[in-house]
Amino acid sequence: VRCQSTSTEEPKTRRNLLDNASNLLTNLLSGGSLGSMPIAEGAVSDLFGKPLFFSLYDWFLEHGAVYKLAFGPKAFVVVSDPIVARHILRENAFAYDKGVLADILEPIMGKGLIPADLDTWKQRRRVIAPGFHAMYLEAMAKVFIQCSGKTIENFEKLLEREQKTGGNAIESDLEADFSSLALDIIGLGVFNYDFGSVTKESPVIKAVYGTLFEAEHRSTFYIPYWKFPLSKWIVPRQRKFQRDLKVINDCLDGLIKNAKETRQETDVEKLQQRDYTNLKDASLLRFLVDMRGADVDDRQLRDDLMTMLIAGHETTAAVLTWAVFLLAQNPTKMQKAQAEIDHVVGQGIPTFESLKKLEYIRLIVVEALRMYPQPPLLIRRALQSDVIPGGYHGDENGYAIPAGTDIFISVYNLHRSPYFWDEPNEFKPERFLVPKESQDIKGWAGFDPARSPGAMYPNEIISDFAFLPFGGGPRKCVGDQFALLESTVALTMLLQKFDVELRGSPDSVELVTGATIHTKHGLWCRLRKRASLA
Ligand code: HEM
Repeated sequence: VRCQSTSTEEPKTRRNLLDNASNLLTNLLSGGSLGSMPIAEGAVSDLFGKPLFFSLYDWFLEHGAVYKLAFGPKAFVVVSDPIVARHILRENAFAYDKGVLADILEPIMGKGLIPADLDTWKQRRRVIAPGFHAMYLEAMAKVFIQCSGKTIENFEKLLEREQKTGGNAIESDLEADFSSLALDIIGLGVFNYDFGSVTKESPVIKAVYGTLFEAEHRSTFYIPYWKFPLSKWIVPRQRKFQRDLKVINDCLDGLIKNAKETRQETDVEKLQQRDYTNLKDASLLRFLVDMRGADVDDRQLRDDLMTMLIAGHETTAAVLTWAVFLLAQNPTKMQKAQAEIDHVVGQGIPTFESLKKLEYIRLIVVEALRMYPQPPLLIRRALQSDVIPGGYHGDENGYAIPAGTDIFISVYNLHRSPYFWDEPNEFKPERFLVPKESQDIKGWAGFDPARSPGAMYPNEIISDFAFLPFGGGPRKCVGDQFALLESTVALTMLLQKFDVELRGSPDSVELVTGATIHTKHGLWCRLRKRASLA
């Protein structure tokens, strides 16, 4: 699947050829085994010049919430309906695997949770998920506060320097800043390693970015040339990728060895009681090694850590990037958020308790995730034949899905569906406070916070799968509460001190996608000390 920036232009002749090929395939595939499912008549050229998920949205409005899309030599089923998403992700989850996504990620993550085969996944999920318990999150809140504090301190220093020369604002690429921050946090939270990327560069940091870059390249390139056995020796970027992987793997191997060698019974007892007070290393690695004993397989542990490093880094940075992008265009909402921070935290340092009271900030984070879901598409492949529901407006008998069918669940479409959201393209954090009635939508239970008592953030249960920022069912993100709390802390600490505005127009912030939605040239912003603090 190739997704590109909005500015790319395709030559006309190539576009015509692609149109013809696409139309031919569409005709051949109509009346195929997917039965009466509507077919998107879009041409392959629609896929150029803008990110794929934009085209999937246009076709969703035209063809409905379940349609078949023929492109290249393959057909995909595109799902934009909560009832169908619920079926695939939860009700019949084990009839599907990660398909193309697993092919792309396996060389990086090995048998980590995301690409793992079902047997490995079951075993590792049972071990890893308990690691994200409430006391771990509370310990992590301190890490989030400490790391965000360093980022803010950096900005303050830069601003002070600027003020000495008569300026009153600094300019910074906040996307890059959030990326460094999220990397430092995931390093400390998952394997107690201080990347220190907010303040310095290192070979390991470079290798992490190199690996992410390659993962993105692979998810946006048509021909999987890296599968040819010799490519890792012949193709320079593949040689570099292998070198980057080795740097990270060596680093992770060292951390695993160290965690095993320093295992102490007193720490084990504390962890068994979920007691994180005075525990020097609260990381997930410590938990995994201490709770499972020294016999846990090193290779598997490394795959687990690598998976969480990749899964938990860019995603969180992207949420913060888009939250700021949206707030900067809505100054009254930024002021409302700052008023809440002033009221709850003042100019002090946030605490785990105070974070729970920052309702509006939390809603901003989830609204950013609604408008810019990370990733915008969930990918599945049917392992066996299935019948999926027809969904809203679809065939009431449902649709037959043959084994091997590739499916995109478009979270972007679901989150911007006019059938489930009022003014879906508007940034309105308050929307989550108003439950939506469900009577007119058969099979969908509507929004109801009572379905998820105690949840700090709206989720897929409350929305009955209309809001899927972390997926749903057994393969749901294990790091959801970690990421939400991390984003809440970082946003709070930024807005506590600074007014933020975009340096250019919102349109100049071009959008590109790989695994996440990010900007083409960075999110360049101007930061000023808040007027009330100046
Ligand atoms: C899975 C989103 C942060 C670890 C997922 C999935 C989504 C997601 C949508 C489901 C994928 C699917 O069903 O195909 C996000 C977003 C994040 C975030 C938006 C940040 C805002 C994190 C963090 C970690 C993490 C911080 C780890 C510390 C994982 C893992 C899985 C996963 C291990 C695979 C779960 C499984 O298959 O059992 N994430 N994630 N994620 N995420 Fe996250």
